[in-house]
Amino acid sequence: MKQPNLDLKAQANNYPSLQLSDRHLCDLELIMNGGFNPLTGFMSKNDYTSVISDMRLNNGTLWPIPITLDVDDSFISKISDSSKIALRDKEGFILAVLNIEEVWQPNLKLEAELVFGTKDTEHPGVHYLLKTSHKNYIGGKIEKVLNPHHYDYQKLRHTPAELKDIFKNKKWDKVIAFQTRNPLHKAHFELTMRAMKELNANLLVHPVVGMTKPGDVNHYTRTRCYNHIMKEYPKNSAFLSLLPLAMRMGGPKETLLHAIIRKNYGCTHLIVGRDHAGPGLNSNNEPFYGPYEAQEMLEKYQDELDIKMVPFKFMVFIPKSGKYKAIDDLIENEEYKTLSGTELRELLDEGKGIPEWFTFKSVAHELELSNPPLTKRGLTIFFSGLSGSGKSTLANGLVTKLLEEGSRPVTLLDGDIVRTHLSSELGFSKEHRSINIKRIGYVASEITKNGGIAICAPIAPYEEDRKFNRELISNEGGYIEIFVNTPLEKCEERDSKGLYALAREGKIKEFTGISDPYEEPKDSEIVVNSSGESPEKLVEKIYQKIVNMGFIEEIK
Ligand code: PPS
Repeated sequence: MKQPNLDLKAQANNYPSLQLSDRHLCDLELIMNGGFNPLTGFMSKNDYTSVISDMRLNNGTLWPIPITLDVDDSFISKISDSSKIALRDKEGFILAVLNIEEVWQPNLKLEAELVFGTKDTEHPGVHYLLKTSHKNYIGGKIEKVLNPHHYDYQKLRHTPAELKDIFKNKKWDKVIAFQTRNPLHKAHFELTMRAMKELNANLLVHPVVGMTKPGDVNHYTRTRCYNHIMKEYPKNSAFLSLLPLAMRMGGPKETLLHAIIRKNYGCTHLIVGRDHAGPGLNSNNEPFYGPYEAQEMLEKYQDELDIKMVPFKFMVFIPKSGKYKAIDDLIENEEYKTLSGTELRELLDEGKGIPEWFTFKSVAHELELSNPPLTKRGLTIFFSGLSGSGKSTLANGLVTKLLEEGSRPVTLLDGDIVRTHLSSELGFSKEHRSINIKRIGYVASEITKNGGIAICAPIAPYEEDRKFNRELISNEGGYIEIFVNTPLEKCEERDSKGLYALAREGKIKEFTGISDPYEEPKDSEIVVNSSGESPEKLVEKIYQKIVNMGFIEEIK
């Protein structure tokens, strides 16, 4: 490991510090290691303006997507007298010094529109700009102190200079890069083999392990899969290296960025498939970009970028011959097989096993290990409803049923339990309720990630917080929301804790349903009303629905 720049580090201790986000860390690493060459820092306003409007840096060099450092107002107030800031990782290590050139407030909506062609926040790149990004940008050159720490897969991480050296030592003068954010299967293997053969070249399998699309297979599982597939390539034909890029899912423009990066890493060719770096569907369920827009974009600029595109041919399996073929080469009425991502997920959910024609056994095994069938996967069951609606009673009943079933450990995060042990300092303002619900979500997501069942039963009156938890937890396992839709009159009539009476008298402020809102859930998986049926019957019903959804094995 290279030694840090100690002089700079000592000076940097006196500068205001910024703790970098995951995205900033990825960008900084590529700025410092040359992956983003010719960038030498976070973009200045001139470069930014020119990139978003013309896809070029101020000096005319092609650059498709801004690389910027966003910070909040409180940080801006800390740097009014400073010309330098220390950029730190999450543990506080100083990685670099940024020499402040400019601070400005970008028009993030305009940026979204110009760069991604839309303001629709279903687009992950737009979502970042409009929902996550801070309102101020700081531009300036970077001086490196230390490479970011990586504890995982160290032998598979290379700087552009290291990779170029490796290619040189191997005497590889034609290298095709294969960009991916997914596990590789036999179709990918076949197409990369073909590309190598057709171009008489070698292959760099160059998966993104920085930030990809929410919901993607995590990079640990993927890298284990890549390690398996690398053994299938002929000796000394292919090389695996991990790329710490934060993808923006920018489709055609991101394809140009991928090409620039691969050129920097010493590749001569880049494979570009259908819908390369595609962001998925927009809020009208339509694709953001045309399927071949990315290919058209790189076709146009490949000479300027000095890297050639290898258009990806969609490969399909021909059962009759047991071989793969490009879909364009099918003869009339020829029978073929493909498996979509959704079909693959369904096979894993149901524990049915992945067919051998689709993927190598070793890869299938890795995927099955990290995606156990629904009956063995971690799960959160999230009750929401008014005080006195019956959430706690039903949650307690369900805990007992699940303990009896016994497939996973069960944890109850009831509203009152949480307010005693996790949120004792919080009150009932919108802000505090939100913190409370997100804490519950965080704990539940950890339980779910580790294969347990978390049962939560807070009021959770705000849709935004419930949605936040749903997204967080769905990345880790199953998520079921149960709306306990017992009418307010019934809850008030029960008034088991005497709180409604006090709320009516104004002795308890901000009381949900009386003097504070309850936004009714609209897309809960299960809705129950505890006013007509006994808790035993309702728990039985809920349990049966969870069985029907596939999360609990049916006892026949
Ligand atoms: S929230 O909104 O989800 O954060 O609320 P939660 O953590 O579930 O806490 C609700 C319990 O706190 C008691 N309580 C109140 N509820 C609503 N509004 C106000 N102002 C309030 N003050 C105290 C009440 O007993 C709730 O418990 P449950 O089990 O829902 O009756």
